[in-house]
Amino acid sequence: MCLLKETLLEKNKTFKPVWFMRQAGRYLPEFREIRSKNTNFINLCLNSKLSSEITLQPLKRFDLDAAIIFSDILLIPYVLGQQVNFIGKNGPTLSEFNLEKFIKNNEQKFIKQINPVYEAIKITRNKLNSSKSLIAFIGAPWTLIIYMLNLKKSKESLNLKLLEKKRAEIRMILDKIVNYLCTHIENQVKAGADVIQIFDSWAGLIPDENLEEYCYEPNKKLVQFCKEKKIPVICFPKGLNKNYLNFNETVKPNGISLDYEVDPIWAKKTLTNVVFQGGMSPKILLQNDKEIYDEAKKYMDIFSDVPYIFNLGHGLLPETNPETLGKLVNFIKENNV
Ligand code: CP3
Repeated sequence: MCLLKETLLEKNKTFKPVWFMRQAGRYLPEFREIRSKNTNFINLCLNSKLSSEITLQPLKRFDLDAAIIFSDILLIPYVLGQQVNFIGKNGPTLSEFNLEKFIKNNEQKFIKQINPVYEAIKITRNKLNSSKSLIAFIGAPWTLIIYMLNLKKSKESLNLKLLEKKRAEIRMILDKIVNYLCTHIENQVKAGADVIQIFDSWAGLIPDENLEEYCYEPNKKLVQFCKEKKIPVICFPKGLNKNYLNFNETVKPNGISLDYEVDPIWAKKTLTNVVFQGGMSPKILLQNDKEIYDEAKKYMDIFSDVPYIFNLGHGLLPETNPETLGKLVNFIKENNV
């Protein structure tokens, strides 16, 4: 069985697997080289050969226990009819959402368009050592809707007036998109992925009174789908802070990825029946070696007697030095006896 799956399903606590969010990305010169020749990011994600090559890049350098397929959560709105642009510093922008067009989508068309991701997974699985996990992922409905309806006012805040205005539309999208996401999960697993991670990167922006409807309920449907199919699933409800507790008790995923704002000691004490992942701030990797090792050891010590997957509290920053990451991976492996 792949190492990550063993931690998630069999609750193995002696071996702590390690992988990183955004381990295939801009901090690697070999990624930047491919990216510079492929200026359209969506097309790059839909190029099965290249996306498989990018997926394997970090595993060629480091002794990681899992690969995560190179793709993007925004492929979903793209294949459902919105243009997606990755130009500029303010994050991705999408063309205006059109409800009529959205409703006209069907599953067959969806699968046909997103099929290159499944091909990339097949190619990657064939090249990957059988002990290594191949993680596939989706964005949670709320996080996708943030982009689809352009709900952010600034980098970190929500346009509440727009949120009010779009309530009916949000309801329609929520109900429909969960089905497409289940299809996407199932097809990625059929192609060879063995673990699913659900990114709810903007869960922290949801007003408290809407958490149930916009966060817990859709995540729960997706987790239940995975559990019925015996697919191990990790949730990342970023920014929920103390509501990680309500999330965990309602959604009940196999694994929960802690963001860098969650107190790991509180989490370990409070969250039950779940495997922990991550937590350490990606900014620490920009510090000197001692600070990095001290912080990594802190997480390894806190979670030493429970199943734990080493990762960060969000994705690797583009400024990260690959050599520093290599040293951290070796440090984790040496502490892993
Ligand atoms: O290595 C991996 O983790 C796998 C690949 C991966 C990407 N995106 C590739 C990517 C994964 C898991 C994602 C998920 C994703 N995409 C999320 C959830 C995780 C998170 O970061 O909170 C979100 C919100 C997105 C949407 C997205 N895609 C944004 C906001 C951006 C631009 C800003 C940024 O963080 O880089 C992207 C582009 C993107 N997706 C890049 C990569 C490697 C950078 C592309 C580039 O400009 O070269």
